[in-house]
Amino acid sequence: MLRAIYPGSFDPVTYGHLDIMKRTSKIVDELVVGVLNNNAKMPLFSVEERVKMLKEVAKDFTNVVIVPFDGLLVDFAKKMEAGLIIRGLRAITDFEYELQMSQTNHKLEPDVETMFLTTSIEYSYLSSTTVKEIAAFGGEISQFVPEAVAGMLVEKMKAKRRV
Ligand code: PNS
Repeated sequence: MLRAIYPGSFDPVTYGHLDIMKRTSKIVDELVVGVLNNNAKMPLFSVEERVKMLKEVAKDFTNVVIVPFDGLLVDFAKKMEAGLIIRGLRAITDFEYELQMSQTNHKLEPDVETMFLTTSIEYSYLSSTTVKEIAAFGGEISQFVPEAVAGMLVEKMKAKRRV
């Protein structure tokens, strides 16, 4: 039984994340999407909101579960009995950070391996940060995130403008 963790902030989940989820779910027996609960990163969406969005967009996958986590990723992987971490690589700019993170995690926990999937070309430019920026200025985001997420993002931006 091969269980993998796909960790991230998912603030919010994009079509790029969904692509990695879909492809990984075909390779492993079970995929645990680990949603980082870390307010120091000042996420736009609370961890509960991010989990809700992910559950909605991943509802058709039979072997994907969504679980929030805090603390070290390798501790979470151990707790979930997962020996594999999956990360997406969009471009060379991602590589330095991802290499450092995977090597650090391997030092911390040699039994947990990291594997990378290169992002599908149509999503290689896409990031949660740029989607939030477009939404903040009222731009069209439907090509970047699933409909349910776009709705929540528009509402969140409206609420922020009211504050
Ligand atoms: O979507 P992101 O923000 O690129 O995901 C980053 C994430 C959640 C994978 C990373 O911040 C993480 O693993 N955080 C948990 C803390 C940890 O284990 N740090 C040591 C790894 S170098």
